[in-house]
Amino acid sequence: MIQNWLGIDRAGLRKILRGLLNRDWLLVSGKRSLTQDLNGSSEDARDQWIKDLVPGKSFVDVGGLWGTVNEKVTVAAKVGAASTTMLDITSLGRPLWQAFYERCASLGVSGCQSICANIDEPGLEKKVGQFDVVHCSGVLYHCPNPLHTLTQLARISRKYLILTSTVIPSTVSNSKGTITVPPGAALFVPYLPQDQVAILKEHWERGGVSSVIGITEQPSTWRIEDYAPWWWLFPVTTVRQLIMTVGFDVLEDCPCWEGKAHSFLARKRE
Ligand SMILES: C[S@@+](CC[C@H](N)C(=O)[O-])C[C@H]1O[C@@H](n2cnc3c(N)ncnc32)[C@H](O)[C@@H]1O
Repeated sequence: MIQNWLGIDRAGLRKILRGLLNRDWLLVSGKRSLTQDLNGSSEDARDQWIKDLVPGKSFVDVGGLWGTVNEKVTVAAKVGAASTTMLDITSLGRPLWQAFYERCASLGVSGCQSICANIDEPGLEKKVGQFDVVHCSGVLYHCPNPLHTLTQLARISRKYLILTSTVIPSTVSNSKGTITVPPGAALFVPYLPQDQVAILKEHWERGGVSSVIGITEQPSTWRIEDYAPWWWLFPVTTVRQLIMTVGFDVLEDCPCWEGKAHSFLARKRE
């Protein structure tokens, strides 16, 4: 980790400066999460965290496969990770793995370990071991038992967790009505009353998200082993509480996906 003469690492320095400046000034909207770096370049804040933390460290991306381009294995490899691993529930040999391998090859990245596993499965840490830095984006709200999932992420993390989840405002208000989510609460999506689903549907569709299993379309039955639906909708503060509860301190956080998601950099409490 890069440290300056004050003994503050880059992540710490950015946090102090963001506190001094209006942090909205640092945020730039775009297709993906963008943060104006201190040196003036625009990039995904998580990439900067990875640049700061990952050189010489082991790195795993949990649930990085879908969509291919949001994976962070190649970012970690390019900044000098000691080892990289992709862990995803998708069976090895499925086209998503092939697309990932092709992306790695096109970016000159090799040597990534591939693991097919369910983050929630018992004994995961014995099967896969621990990693210095665990990255997990776009998974938490797909998990029926998010506190268990975060506990599993903590079990396989030796030190850092970079977590991104979709989030909702604590008050969602539109032509269909208003939902208020008090501090510490979250919305459990299965079998929500129709009028509440209508408010959420309008919220996500206005945000340009038109296909959300559980909200814009309903599964025929909700099955606890099904990770395709959105099971939970969290305000930012509740995600922070969950991360803290499984033994991490949140070092930095920032909105991404134009505020529809939020990223956290967290370090295991000693
Ligand atoms: C919505 S995609 C997120 C992809 C990418 N990380 C991103 O942020 O855009 C969810 C990914 O997590 C994987 N996944 C879903 N449930 C999982 C689980 N229980 N354990 C491991 N991976 C899971 C899916 O196969 C998929 O690749």
